[in-house]
Amino acid sequence: MKVGNTISRETFYCNLLTAGHLFYGFLSLLCSLSVFHFQNTVKSTIHSSYADRHYDFCKFQPLSLKETHEEYLLMKSIAWPETPPLPFPHYLSKTSDPSHSSFTILSGGKTESDILLARLHNPTLGAGVVGQVVDHLNGSYSAVFYLPWEGNAEVEVTLVHPSEAITVLHSLTRKHPDRIYFKSLFRSGYINETTVCNVCLRPTQQPVCNYTDLRTGEPWFCYKPKNLSCDTRINHSKGRLKKNLMTTETLFQSGVNMKVSIPASGPSGVTVLPKTKGWSMVSSRTVKSRPSGYYFHSVWRALRGPSVPHFNTSSAITQCLKGKVVHIYGDSTVRQWFEYFNATLPGSCSTNLSEKIGPYMALDYANNILVTYRCHGPPIRFSKVPITELRYIANELDSVTGGSETVVVLGIWSHFSTFPVEVYIRRLQSIRRAVVQLLSRAPDTLVVIRTANPKNLTLYETITNSDWYSLQRDKVLRAMFKGLNVHLVDAWEMVVAHNLPHELHPQPPIIENMINVLLSYICPKKGG
Ligand SMILES: *[C@@H]1O[C@H](CO)[C@@H](O)[C@H](O)[C@H]1NC(C)=O
Ligand SMILES: *[C@@H]1O[C@H](CO)[C@@H](O)[C@H](O)[C@H]1NC(C)=O
Ligand SMILES: *[C@@H]1O[C@H](CO)[C@@H](O)[C@H](O)[C@H]1NC(C)=O
Ligand SMILES: *[C@@H]1O[C@H](CO)[C@@H](O)[C@H](O)[C@H]1NC(C)=O
Ligand SMILES: *[C@@H]1O[C@H](CO)[C@@H](O)[C@H](O)[C@H]1NC(C)=O
Ligand SMILES: *[C@@H]1O[C@H](CO)[C@@H](O)[C@H](O)[C@H]1NC(C)=O
Ligand SMILES: *[C@@H]1O[C@H](CO)[C@@H](O)[C@H](O)[C@H]1NC(C)=O
Ligand SMILES: *[C@@H]1O[C@H](CO)[C@@H](O)[C@H](O)[C@H]1NC(C)=O
Ligand SMILES: *[C@@H]1O[C@H](CO)[C@@H](O)[C@H](O)[C@H]1NC(C)=O
Repeated sequence: MKVGNTISRETFYCNLLTAGHLFYGFLSLLCSLSVFHFQNTVKSTIHSSYADRHYDFCKFQPLSLKETHEEYLLMKSIAWPETPPLPFPHYLSKTSDPSHSSFTILSGGKTESDILLARLHNPTLGAGVVGQVVDHLNGSYSAVFYLPWEGNAEVEVTLVHPSEAITVLHSLTRKHPDRIYFKSLFRSGYINETTVCNVCLRPTQQPVCNYTDLRTGEPWFCYKPKNLSCDTRINHSKGRLKKNLMTTETLFQSGVNMKVSIPASGPSGVTVLPKTKGWSMVSSRTVKSRPSGYYFHSVWRALRGPSVPHFNTSSAITQCLKGKVVHIYGDSTVRQWFEYFNATLPGSCSTNLSEKIGPYMALDYANNILVTYRCHGPPIRFSKVPITELRYIANELDSVTGGSETVVVLGIWSHFSTFPVEVYIRRLQSIRRAVVQLLSRAPDTLVVIRTANPKNLTLYETITNSDWYSLQRDKVLRAMFKGLNVHLVDAWEMVVAHNLPHELHPQPPIIENMINVLLSYICPKKGG
């Protein structure tokens, strides 16, 4: 008998509070759960407390008083409600002995927080919108939906992780912030040596080379090669994931207790009727903000920001970008945008400096369009990046003149998931400093930020890039740039609302919609 298979999903159900016909406005849904708890749990609850740092071998650059306060508030805002203690490892080891794999059902009284995603959709209409999940911290959740279209809509609720899994993910980062490691090759003359590098480098007898960036203060270290000096480092690569990190694989089974759809206990469909005079909009007390947009006929329609015209032909895209320079910086999720432009702009020719790493440049000479891409600085899990091409975004932005013809696109989140969130907060603080300077020297510059998105989770992906890690970083990212003159492309909602599976690199129909949103910022519809 496999332990994890006994974690049933039938115990999780949602009720439509208002069944049947609805009018434009909000729909509220109450989900409850009775979850199987492991027996004989160890009473040592892990808190996401600010003071509780165990990763003291990670080096963080010093912050100003103001930044320290901001970091404190950010960490507080993403602190997860208390998660249940880890089961005794003994009970989780894969065993065929049923006596070691028994569960009890505790109905109600569950106070810990699972991660749920909710969406309302209609495949025939190509329509979808994200619902906001509110955790009542008593085992009940509400999912509140904005109803943007008339007609039928199906509710879909997905359990990403039960709270027990979050306990494990949280402690993984505390104990193994270096679980993804990096390597550098050092070379001088005939001698080659490779050593391990990280922002979290465990102290050993071996001396360390300090590659902290002098301008941004971003820390980075490698063990010093035995026979070579620190200045002979020539390239950077992703290492591997450390082995044997956990004994709790059963908590992370795709389709069983991870990324699993929660069935409705009653009807899961609603019919949205047209707005009628005399009916006021039903509003929600729990949720104030509307979603950032929704799909209709498979096209993303923004509910915040400019309306999204459909740049569905390459000539429409060329027309919009005429005379513009678009600089894209970040991870492979914004590299997808470069690839889109590179493939779509007619007559563009692209350099191919090095496979998948960039930097890339696509030039449409006739229309005076330049699009560039460069990856962000370490930690970056790309392979064989020459040291000469390792740049921090903040430093790159310092060399952008800016102006009304300049567009800066940033997408940086995925490679920070395994580290303490402080590493990400500091990286964003330094990027924000550079964005503020850019916008003050050239206020007409357009700055667009791509948010994080959920992905398809395997066990490996979960340890390195669980949606829980992404969600927390996504919150930090949005908070960090709030109030600045920058625009978001809400990749999170655009992936969750779509019918296609969640993927780190979303499929072309989603990318196309993201590019549409980007272009709507560059070329807003007149009078719209
Ligand atoms: C949990 O809290 C919500 C909101 O306060 C309430 O509506 C619900 O009845 C509560 N559920 C339980 C099981 O106590
Ligand atoms: C070090 O690498 C260079 C380039 O690949 C190679 O020519 C050389 O033989 C290597 N040296 C040793 C000692 O392996
Ligand atoms: C690394 O170098 C930076 C910049 O010179 C310095 O501020 C920092 O203290 C050094 N860190 C370590 C661990 O030596
Ligand atoms: C360093 O040099 C010594 C002496 O030449 C050699 O024995 C040793 O193998 C070298 N170590 C490494 C890691 O290359
Ligand atoms: C592009 O969009 C416009 C306006 O929405 C529409 O009229 C046109 O048919 C579309 N063209 C293609 C090729 O999809
Ligand atoms: C850009 O397009 C060219 C020509 O189609 C192609 O050879 C190249 O690989 C593309 N580069 C990227 C980074 O997608
Ligand atoms: C780009 O570079 C890669 C590897 O360096 C190579 O395989 C590919 O053929 C190149 N593409 C073009 C269009 O030159
Ligand atoms: C570093 O670069 C060299 C030459 O470009 C390559 O042969 C080697 O595999 C790379 N090593 C690492 C660890 O990235
Ligand atoms: C994950 O990928 C598999 C295989 O491509 C697919 O069947 C599944 O629906 C995906 N899961 C999610 C949650 O997107």
